Amino acid sequence: MAYILSFANQKGGVGKTTSAVNVAACLAHRGKRVLLIDMDPQGNTTSGVGVSKRGLKTTVYEALLGQVPVKAAIIPTRYDNLHLLPATISLAGAEFDLIDVIDRESCLKTALAPVVGNYDYVIIDCPPSLGLLTINSLTASNGAVIPMQCEYFALEGLSQLMLTIRKIKQHYNRQLEITGILLTMYNPRLNLTLQVVNELKKYYSDKLFRTPIVRNVKLSEAPSFGTPIIYHDPGSKGALAYIDVSDELIIRTSV
Ligand SMILES: Nc1ncnc2c1ncn2[C@@H]1O[C@H](COP(=O)(O)OP(=O)(O)OP(=O)(O)O)[C@@H](O)[C@H]1O
Ligand SMILES: [Mg+2]
Repeated sequence: MAYILSFANQKGGVGKTTSAVNVAACLAHRGKRVLLIDMDPQGNTTSGVGVSKRGLKTTVYEALLGQVPVKAAIIPTRYDNLHLLPATISLAGAEFDLIDVIDRESCLKTALAPVVGNYDYVIIDCPPSLGLLTINSLTASNGAVIPMQCEYFALEGLSQLMLTIRKIKQHYNRQLEITGILLTMYNPRLNLTLQVVNELKKYYSDKLFRTPIVRNVKLSEAPSFGTPIIYHDPGSKGALAYIDVSDELIIRTSV
């Protein structure tokens, strides 16, 4: 059975997609069978692994609404062991279309059930909101990885996210755990960064990933080639950081 992980944070631009794409690629590179799910209508994960959104007819949207079996929407990528359940802007309609659906929080879980046995990991990239798409992702997951930038408001956002996770655990998914908090765009030369890290260590020391993801220009240019960082520039600081985090993730999830 796959270990299902949501990369979630309602704050925008904190490195959810960069982390989901690159962790998925590193896990696949380690020989794990990985399904990467794009749950964001922006579709950045889809293009991030080199899949063109133009002309995609069958996506996570149709699978979520039960219009097609999920298998029909999953496509291989050009990378070994890495499959994709893609998204296009059509997914923006799902928040509305799911309103009247029974068990609307569990649609993704239900859709994935027939294929979870085929993978070691399912990695879900969530949109920057705590709406139904994120709730569906967390309801389907064993764990959440929370990518965070070391800014003051990040801590406020984190309490809100923890509250949502607690509610989802209570109502929809008892097994949901916080697998880890991942520091992104990390710059140890900034005082504020160190202050935020100290605060985080006070409350969540066991959750913090050992390796922070440094700010690295290679990480920001890789998506324009549709290439995860380990293939774009395997020796870069960004690649080494994501390899470390993925290896730690394998230990934390012991698959
Ligand atoms: N470690 C890093 N170093 C440099 N740039 C980064 C790093 N991580 C992410 N970025 C860049 O920061 C921007 C935001 O990252 P990303 O898209 O991964 O965030 P996100 O949380 O998925 O955003 P959204 O909330 O819009 O989905 C992107 O342009 C990305 O290339
Ligand atoms: Mg994103």
